[in-house]
Amino acid sequence: MTTDEAVHLQTAGPLHAETLAALHALCFPDEPWDAAAIASLCSPPEGFALLALRGEEPVGFALARVAAGEGEILTIGVLPADRRGGVGRRLVMAVLGTAQDQGAEALFLEVAEDNSPARTLYMANGFEPVGRRPGYYTRPSGAVAAVVMRRTIPGV
Ligand SMILES: CC(C)(COP(=O)(O)OP(=O)(O)OC[C@H]1O[C@@H](n2cnc3c(N)ncnc32)[C@H](O)[C@@H]1OP(=O)(O)O)[C@@H](O)C(=O)NCCC(=O)NCCS
Repeated sequence: MTTDEAVHLQTAGPLHAETLAALHALCFPDEPWDAAAIASLCSPPEGFALLALRGEEPVGFALARVAAGEGEILTIGVLPADRRGGVGRRLVMAVLGTAQDQGAEALFLEVAEDNSPARTLYMANGFEPVGRRPGYYTRPSGAVAAVVMRRTIPGV
């Protein structure tokens, strides 16, 4: 594990789509998203993206959107070598801040029921489970449910 001392966050957009797609593929090797889809998702007003960089090197990312006063984290990831250094938490908090700036009063996300690191991250940062979608994710080992989580934004 590395420390997060030199990691900084910046906003990202369609021009960073290739970088975001490369990060996504490394964080979700079984379900990579292509750059064109990511470019669309992070084009205002559709959504926004954040990049975490260690110096010039991208180490993490988040994609999110806000509509009708509700925000949603679409995807978030940190490269394996940079995990457990606080980058994921910083990305979540930055998404909360940006979503609040864009008028969101709550932030939602879906997380696989068997994704214990991510569920722990969200629970530790004020998210609560509010729903469950059985069989939402398809895995070679079988279908896995999604847990829907929500956090109110005031208090960021
Ligand atoms: C989930 C993910 C983004 C977390 O990123 P991270 O930078 O490692 O997270 P942080 O270092 O900020 O961890 C913050 C807290 O989350 C929890 N946490 C994170 N990883 C954990 C793990 N492997 N086991 C248990 N708790 C964990 C801990 O409470 C941690 O606080 P602590 O280190 O003080 O104990 C990262 O594991 C990842 O990219 N996973 C693959 C992609 C993914 O599953 N994304 C989420 C999809 S919903």
